[in-house]
Amino acid sequence: MRLVAGNWKMNGSPAAVTDLVAGLTQRLRAAEVGCTAAVCPPAHLLAAAVAAAGAGLAVGSQDCSDEAGPGAFTGEISAFMLAETGCRYAIVGHSERRQRHGESNTLVRAKASRALAAGLVPIVCVGETLKQREAGDAAAVVSEQVQESLPEGWSTDTLVIAYEPVWAIGTGLTATAADIAEMHSAIGAVMGSRRAAILYGGSVKPGNAAEILGTEGVNGALIGGASLKLDDFWGIVTAA
Ligand code: 13P
Repeated sequence: MRLVAGNWKMNGSPAAVTDLVAGLTQRLRAAEVGCTAAVCPPAHLLAAAVAAAGAGLAVGSQDCSDEAGPGAFTGEISAFMLAETGCRYAIVGHSERRQRHGESNTLVRAKASRALAAGLVPIVCVGETLKQREAGDAAAVVSEQVQESLPEGWSTDTLVIAYEPVWAIGTGLTATAADIAEMHSAIGAVMGSRRAAILYGGSVKPGNAAEILGTEGVNGALIGGASLKLDDFWGIVTAA
């Protein structure tokens, strides 16, 4: 399965849902594309996004609770609630949450497990920092993240991994095709005989999408900044 997912992060508004989600839906109706396209807006826009998205466009959340709930967990949204809202995917373990909120592999695995149990496909994010890459530890760090963050009981169709080098996120820097291929192969080796789709993320734009998406072992992309502009995101979806 090839997947191009847009992570809106803390961006967007009801007007953006109309522009982006309805616009994408319209384009997907008119064209055949070789991938699944998904948008992951902030939580308060999920229901509107689901309502605006046609059958060809999936919706995902940017996080979910590690608690099954329902219960006294202020500020949390359970995977079950997200599924009930119409989400198909849940991003978990994004580096911005690992770094800003101290999310550990153990917590990420718990969230991914809740997502899986609720019938969502978790998009588990992994990736090394620049310091770790410069120290030659990138493959070891990412392999450990994969080993410790993946939920029990996943299958090829119920899990997606996103390799996002932290230093490439929002910086305009991208890993080289050779580095991406090497890391995706290392991630594949950790998974063993089962294979989940592995996305690349980090400064993917229409101009570099074809090369990145054509790299060995790359099954799609997780897009930040470029997912906020209809033409840019569409350019990446069609490159896939
Ligand atoms: P950018 O595409 O803005 O670099 O963000 C990537 C990302 O973090 C997607 O989750």
